[in-house]
Amino acid sequence: MILSARVATVSGTRIHCGSNALQGFRKLLLSHEYRKSRVFILVDANTGKHCLPLLVEACPELDAALVFEIEGGEASKSLSSAEKIWIELLASGADRRSLLVNLGGGVVSDLGGFIAAGLKRGIPYINIPTSLTGMVDAAIGGKTGVNMGELKNQLGFFYSPLAVFVDARFLKTLPSDHIRSGFAEIVKSALIGDPVLWRKLLRQGAENILALDILEKPWQDLIMKTMTFKNRITCQDFREQKLRKILNFGHTIGHALESFVLARDEKGLLHGDAVALGMIAETWLSHLKAGLSGGEAMEIISFLKAGYKIQAETLGDLVRKTPSSYDNIYTLLLYDKKISEGQVRYTLIQAAGKPRINRQAGRDETSASLDKIFD
Ligand SMILES: NC(=O)c1ccc[n+]([C@@H]2O[C@H](COP(=O)([O-])OP(=O)(O)OC[C@H]3O[C@@H](n4cnc5c(N)ncnc54)[C@H](O)[C@@H]3O)[C@@H](O)[C@H]2O)c1
Ligand SMILES: [Zn+2]
Repeated sequence: MILSARVATVSGTRIHCGSNALQGFRKLLLSHEYRKSRVFILVDANTGKHCLPLLVEACPELDAALVFEIEGGEASKSLSSAEKIWIELLASGADRRSLLVNLGGGVVSDLGGFIAAGLKRGIPYINIPTSLTGMVDAAIGGKTGVNMGELKNQLGFFYSPLAVFVDARFLKTLPSDHIRSGFAEIVKSALIGDPVLWRKLLRQGAENILALDILEKPWQDLIMKTMTFKNRITCQDFREQKLRKILNFGHTIGHALESFVLARDEKGLLHGDAVALGMIAETWLSHLKAGLSGGEAMEIISFLKAGYKIQAETLGDLVRKTPSSYDNIYTLLLYDKKISEGQVRYTLIQAAGKPRINRQAGRDETSASLDKIFD
């Protein structure tokens, strides 16, 4: 079963979704003046191999496009990758009528969006997400960026794609680790915005959902709901003045864990896995600081631990063998862009569907919440 609906956003960035999505993309390609300039496609090694053929089959005109390929993985989301591609784009005559097509997961759309935003003060770009995280999260909302060393997303722009085209057939070749990782954003979205969906997920159990075929209807419904939710929130508060901050649940500690692992193990921790573990900690913080009941907190924590058991154990081993690991993680939290006046501010939940932004928590409470990942 393939997504079949089509969603239009209020901000002018449209999301086309379903088995006709690539036809929609072709129409845009043919109807615009981009053809007179040049079309560029950014892929990574995996999406170049697995996804580009499907895209070119749907849009034969892309045969003439210049393809830039980066290595797969978080390490490619760097200023040096952006610089290399800027140099090649300029050498190929890219101008403001050129179009950059990002075909890949969150690394490709974050990096490609950043490249598009920076080149000649902004060229148009399209996101065609191929990972679950890309579809439900990264490709939507116009946050672009690159990492600085192990520090995540330190450089970036808010810069919207012209449109987003989502075709679930790309997910056929996505490795299961990345399905599990993308699932974390779906759980986050349910916890902050859809208590009915959250109860449904809870009844099913994370392990059982993760065992289902990604092309089956239950997943397609989850993708659709999550994508629509993210789209709605980011349209209402594009620059993250207030409402959009609710999407950060699990991410403050999640990003610190991602950076902590990346500094010690080049394979790093997948973004969604880090968010799932971050949500375990921030659920406990929600109990301590935002009035989430102990019972509901434990339900959420048990659900996440069942889905992300191995990731919690692996991180636990690294934390135990690293001297002053909690101090390191706390220092990373202080680098996070959600810091205000030297304090760590979290997005927490008072209950499923009741997010609370800008909740401050101290070092001791943060440590107690990290313990919940490992005990
Ligand atoms: N901008 C945002 O709002 C936002 C939101 C969430 C995540 N992100 C960022 O996105 C990144 C994580 O996204 P991700 O998990 O998609 O990472 P990713 O882009 O690294 O993709 C995951 C892996 O799957 C491979 N892949 C992707 N699609 C495939 C397909 N169809 N078939 C086979 N292999 C495929 C990729 O090559 C990569 O190895 C992080 O850098 C995170 O910070 C950004
Ligand atoms: Zn995320």
